Amino acid sequence: MIQTSSHQTEDGGQQTERLSSPALIPQDSELERSLRPKSFQEYIGQDKVKENLAVYIEAARRRGEPLDHVLLYGPPGLGKTTLAGIIAHEMGVNLRVTSGPAIEKPGDLAALLTNLGRGDVLFVDEIHRLSRAVEEILYPAMEDGVLDIMVGNGPAARSIRVDLNPFTLVGATTRAGQLTPPLRDRFGIVQRLELYTPEQLCDIVRRSAMLLDIPCDYDGAIELASRSRGTPRIANRLLRRARDFADVMGGGVITEATARHALERLEIDELGLDKLDRRMLDMIIRGYRGGPVGLETLASALGEEAVTLEDVCEPYLMQLGMLARTPRGRCVTRLAYEHLNYPTEDGGAAKQYSLSDMLDADTP
Ligand code: ADE
Repeated sequence: MIQTSSHQTEDGGQQTERLSSPALIPQDSELERSLRPKSFQEYIGQDKVKENLAVYIEAARRRGEPLDHVLLYGPPGLGKTTLAGIIAHEMGVNLRVTSGPAIEKPGDLAALLTNLGRGDVLFVDEIHRLSRAVEEILYPAMEDGVLDIMVGNGPAARSIRVDLNPFTLVGATTRAGQLTPPLRDRFGIVQRLELYTPEQLCDIVRRSAMLLDIPCDYDGAIELASRSRGTPRIANRLLRRARDFADVMGGGVITEATARHALERLEIDELGLDKLDRRMLDMIIRGYRGGPVGLETLASALGEEAVTLEDVCEPYLMQLGMLARTPRGRCVTRLAYEHLNYPTEDGGAAKQYSLSDMLDADTP
């Protein structure tokens, strides 16, 4: 298996590194690689995605063809790279890993594509960040298996066509909406990954603990799992930190008590919210009477990047039902007031938003 790794965070390094951020940080890479399931049997959760992909892979294998191009989308840290590895493994081909920002010029993509063997999988993480010039090379490659390369300049410039080995592009994005329609339309298989349930994360923590030889009982694992914001990457990170606390102060075993102690020290609360999540809710409540407030205004009030709030804090806060995006901006719900122990009968500041308000809302 060929791996091209880059030490960039998923947003190109703009994101604040937080223990409960789903963004990839360099320390994760090696750990993730060692824990990565290699087959669908080992992969926990995402049942629908697994079942569908297993059928498409079996059908492609029986026909002796490469798998159709696959787009995986959903929040960061849920296992898109892992799934690409499993696809390659099950198809019996090589995997080549890269990312949108790492492919700077059309020539970079041409080099990658011409080096692929028959049926190989090219995994492009953050595919929404490909430049327009690179994307245009990708269209004929995906559709007709050819590369159109311009050689020369000015009047002498001409295009030469190179046949490629048939290949499968697996694209991953946290933002399917940012993909250009021509690129999106070239993926035959589109699958959305969902946040994991605490029970699934508990199984993942127990599997990781076993592989890493970390003593962790069931109650310790469920405690870590239920505060990992639905994200295996965070669960595995918390497992490592909890091991440190267990080794130094808890007899080496991660129990419910040691996990709770570790999470308290890490300032991650019972629902998995960290300091930034709570600051964000607090700012909307105290600074803007519960909202609405625009994302950019909120980001500058907090001294954070808007993209961090949008990609990291908001998906989980919205899933918990504490935050709503309305056409006029971000608003907290009654649950946020309750969670932060603010009174909800304070002159109407604790508003309730209707479902249609929330469905309408897509304003950045
Ligand atoms: N480690 C990270 N994600 C995993 C998953 N979905 N299944 C098993 N182990 C994992």
